Amino acid sequence: MQNVTFFGAGYVGLTTAAHVAGTHKVVVYDPDEVKRTAIEAVLEGDTDHLYIHEAGLVELLRKNKRNIHPTSTLDEALEKPELIILAVGTPSIPETGHANLKYLVEAAQAIGSHLLHDAVVLVKSTVPPGTSSMLDDVLFEQLGIAGSPARVAVGACPEFLAEGTAMADLRTPYRVVVGLDDPQAQREVHRFFRTMYGEGTILMTDVASAELSKHASNAMLATRITFVNDLARLCEAVGADIKAVTRAMGMDPRIGSKFLNAGFGYGGSCFPKDTRALATFARGLHVPLPIVEAAIAGNEVATERFTQNILASYNGDLTGEQFVLWGVGFKAGTDDLRDSRAVEVMRTLLERGATVHVYDPVAGARRNLEEDFESALGHHLFTYDSQYGMAPLVDHPSIIIGNEDNQFRSVDVAPFGSVRTVFDGKNVLSAEEVLALQEAGVQYHGVGRGTLTGSASRPDLVAYLRHHYMDG
Ligand code: UGA
Repeated sequence: MQNVTFFGAGYVGLTTAAHVAGTHKVVVYDPDEVKRTAIEAVLEGDTDHLYIHEAGLVELLRKNKRNIHPTSTLDEALEKPELIILAVGTPSIPETGHANLKYLVEAAQAIGSHLLHDAVVLVKSTVPPGTSSMLDDVLFEQLGIAGSPARVAVGACPEFLAEGTAMADLRTPYRVVVGLDDPQAQREVHRFFRTMYGEGTILMTDVASAELSKHASNAMLATRITFVNDLARLCEAVGADIKAVTRAMGMDPRIGSKFLNAGFGYGGSCFPKDTRALATFARGLHVPLPIVEAAIAGNEVATERFTQNILASYNGDLTGEQFVLWGVGFKAGTDDLRDSRAVEVMRTLLERGATVHVYDPVAGARRNLEEDFESALGHHLFTYDSQYGMAPLVDHPSIIIGNEDNQFRSVDVAPFGSVRTVFDGKNVLSAEEVLALQEAGVQYHGVGRGTLTGSASRPDLVAYLRHHYMDG
């Protein structure tokens, strides 16, 4: 399998293609000419600007440029590949929450009507179980209509990379999962991945299990975050610190320390969409998943609770108030604003008559925000290319920390003169930082940091225990 064609030049398709091009000849097919031209310009060294921001991507594309050919032409895309990887989007259908499989079906139809030789097709997009079988049917039918002699095996190979760390995730993935039923295709694909990764990383399964493993992993991680966010509320009530609680939990290797950071909810193009898609899919099969449903609902509660705290701190009236928002990407190091909780919070502030001054170190994140909120731009919404750029223009603002970027791990009050409150949506400030702020007269609201905010009333807690927890 020397020739690989990717369908879809989005986050997953392009980053994976750049990586695979280190060892194979890669064609990246996307019908969007703008994307193709942008990739060509990067490969030719004309620009560093791509339509997605991922650290290290431009460099890797250039490094492997001899092996990468972007195209918008199906004939070119399907001339040679022994392996075709589908990495097109599966966005939510807004009315139902189902993953929209139409782009995958279109890709299968296109392949079926152009392919003239045998190939393996792997679905990298996040899909419900059964999708690969459905695409197999579509391909079979389309090849028949086209009178093609090609035989195609369709399988699942879900992608587990995370935005912001995609290049490292691709170099050293936790696992590569491949679901294929055809024995020859299994052998070929196994060999293909072995040229890139160690034997122990590759897990060969049946198709449905591979498909479900992606949804299951994302739902598990999302549930874990909601669980911690629920606990964070209890921490506030009892004067505990969620950071200490999760540190203690994480020291147990059965639990592990990753993905236990409390905050104002998870966002991005994956967890919100995929949990909804999984819950809807299972409900449709009369196998409800109450824990996943609760994780979804709990995530909304986490964001609402954070917004409510801001409102309560201003007695419900934000008219004319000034906020500084650091970080709008759904997490650090990305320009992706999809389901960004910071953007949700910002939207509420704007609706309530506040003015918001935004800084994000990722220029693309600022650009995307400016496009999405064009009507507020220059009136109630201002963006800056430096963290303290807004300082001379605002008077006694509150600062909202919207993602985990390292730049936000300390707050310098001096450029602002004074700061009213810091609302830390991702608990990025250390206890020492918070204490220093409080000494400087700045209020602090994190998520579940009862020890720092003094939100617990110990005498009440003791009275509650005395009253209810003793027999006689
Ligand atoms: C996620 C998964 O981590 C990837 O394994 C998966 O391949 C990807 O979805 C996908 O389906 O394509 P991603 O959405 O890029 O990756 O980012 P994450 O790092 O998982 O963060 C998701 C959200 O959870 C962010 O808003 C982040 O701030 C939040 N989060 C993460 C927390 O609130 N607490 C944590 O402890 C960790």
